[in-house]
Order: sequence, then C-alpha cells, then structure tokens
Amino acid sequence: MPLWRSKSGKVDLLRRVPLFDGLSQRQLEQIAGLADEIEVAAGRRLAVAGETGHELFIIVDGQAQVRLRNGRATRLGPGEFFGEMSLIDGGPRSATVEARTPMRLLVVGHREFWSLLAAAPQLGGKIMRTLSRRLREAEGAPTA
Ligand code: CMP
Repeated sequence: MPLWRSKSGKVDLLRRVPLFDGLSQRQLEQIAGLADEIEVAAGRRLAVAGETGHELFIIVDGQAQVRLRNGRATRLGPGEFFGEMSLIDGGPRSATVEARTPMRLLVVGHREFWSLLAAAPQLGGKIMRTLSRRLREAEGAPTA
C-alpha cells in the first residue's frame, strides 16, 4: 500500500463508501481534495468522550467500537461515520471510539467538514438521518 495515493485512486476509494453513493464524479473529486486517508492499528483511540473533537471519520475498512457514556457499546463498520457531533455543535466528544480491528478511514477536518457539505449538500440529509437514529437509539425509542 503506497503512502501516497493519486487523486484518481482516492476517488476510486470514495466510490466504495456507501455514504457517497449518488455523488457525481466532480463531487467525488472535490471530496478527495478535502479528506485524508489514514490506516490505524487495532486498539487505537480515535475519539475520547469529554475531549474536544476536530475531525469526522468515515470508515472504509475495519470496525470501530463506540463506548457511550451510559455504559452501552455499539459497533460501526465500513461506510459508517463518527465524530460528526463535535464538528456540528463544537461540543465535546459524546463517546469514546476505538479501532476494534485494523482500520482504513477517511478523515475530514473541521473546516473541510463544512466545505464537504457545501460540495455535496446531499450528505447533510444523510448525516441528519444518522443523527436522528442515534438519538432514538440512545433514548431507547423505536427506530424507523
Ligand atoms: P462525537 O460526539 O463527535 O464523538 C463520538 C462519536 O460517537 C459521535 O460524535 C458519534 O459519531 C458517535 N456516536 C455517538 N453516539 C452514538 C450512537 N448511539 N451510535 C453510534 N455512534 C454514536
């Protein structure tokens, strides 16, 4: 795996992520310029509850474990994302997120997050739907 991936290689990687389904080639190219690709080992802590958060993470490969403050845990896999809550409201991380397996992720910084939504407004709806579902789950309410 090269340390550096060409822009077209990155666009091919973005195409594999269901969050980006339906986006145009141009939108994918814009996103490729906004997101960094990282690989992390199992056990790596990617967000710590209570700390300030600066990035959104989108899972390409591997699984993450989310430990909620109420003691419950949940898992996230390829195509899912985390870290959006702190970016949206500037509040501290709501949960601790750790790599359960080796992972490949796309990382989007704070400023780039808003550029991402401007480049692909469809993502706003998808992120809002996920937020609503997470809130329902956290409150034990029925999900759609
Ligand atoms: P953030 O609060 O920035 O950092 C921790 C992340 O865990 C949070 O954003 C969400 O992305 C994720 N998270 C919080 N609650 C849940 C949940 N109930 N299910 C799945 N992921 C969650």
